[in-house]
Amino acid sequence: MKVTVIGAGNVGATCADVIARKDFVHELVLLDIKQGIAEGKALDIWQTSPINIFNTRVKGVTNDYQATSNSDVVVITSGLPRKPGMSRDDLIATNAGIVKSVTERVIQHSPDTIIIVVSNPLDVMTYCAYLTSKLPPNKVFGMAGILDTARYKAFLAEALDCSPKDIQAVIMGGHGDTMVPLPRYTTVSGIPVTDLLAKEKLDSIIDRTKKGGGELVNLMGTSAWYAPGAAAAQMVEAVIKDEMRIYPCCAWLQGEYGLNEIYLGVPVKLGRNGIEQIITLQLNADEMTLLNASATAVKEVMAVLDGMQKVA
Ligand code: LAC
Repeated sequence: MKVTVIGAGNVGATCADVIARKDFVHELVLLDIKQGIAEGKALDIWQTSPINIFNTRVKGVTNDYQATSNSDVVVITSGLPRKPGMSRDDLIATNAGIVKSVTERVIQHSPDTIIIVVSNPLDVMTYCAYLTSKLPPNKVFGMAGILDTARYKAFLAEALDCSPKDIQAVIMGGHGDTMVPLPRYTTVSGIPVTDLLAKEKLDSIIDRTKKGGGELVNLMGTSAWYAPGAAAAQMVEAVIKDEMRIYPCCAWLQGEYGLNEIYLGVPVKLGRNGIEQIITLQLNADEMTLLNASATAVKEVMAVLDGMQKVA
């Protein structure tokens, strides 16, 4: 099995590091446009193999897409990260061009690959990769829900002073302030979270989760990488190992939840074919209202991309 990570910035390099450590893939290629950076980071990761005990061969290349040929999975992390004061949507003009050209070159060398998009604005960059690659939608999806859910779970574990391992949760919607955490689908070892935590506290955690990426941008002056990189690696693992794990991912909807022709975060089953199934929850009226509002926000940015494609 072969995996390529495009972009050797913080997120791409962390994703490659986590994939290598987990030792589930034979060949891992890290590609960057900047001379030497992917070679250097890949070599550094490979030199952890005797310490972290893995066999994955990690190779770095500068813009050499030939080296990515016949990848089973390609993770696209390319693009600019956010700076303080920016929304993810502010990145569209720059990152759409980058994601489009990266996808074109990926597909030339791996026509049947599965593409996992990590670049922001996430939902719309996933749409961009889908349009460009012309792959079926089960093979093009985005990483956001695992990251947003991880933040939510980490905040809950802290508030409850319990293990994050025991928290199960679903977050739906776009990867932005309109994301939809679902308390009704949040449990701690099967116990509804609402039995354990006061409403005000839960509300404040939901609010912090929605702004979770921004909190880190404000602290560091750039966007996060440890949790985003690990989240993308977890999706790669589910595909390569055909795990049939159920995760919230950014998927192409064709009627599910009454939504059509939109990339949006929903629970899906991930296996060797990518998205094996989109899971339809029985959302109540309040939850549907929030999901629809999130869909409207994502559609607005998708329309900006559609406009750019027409000009191009
Ligand atoms: C975040 C960025 C990666 O949420 O979107 O941290």
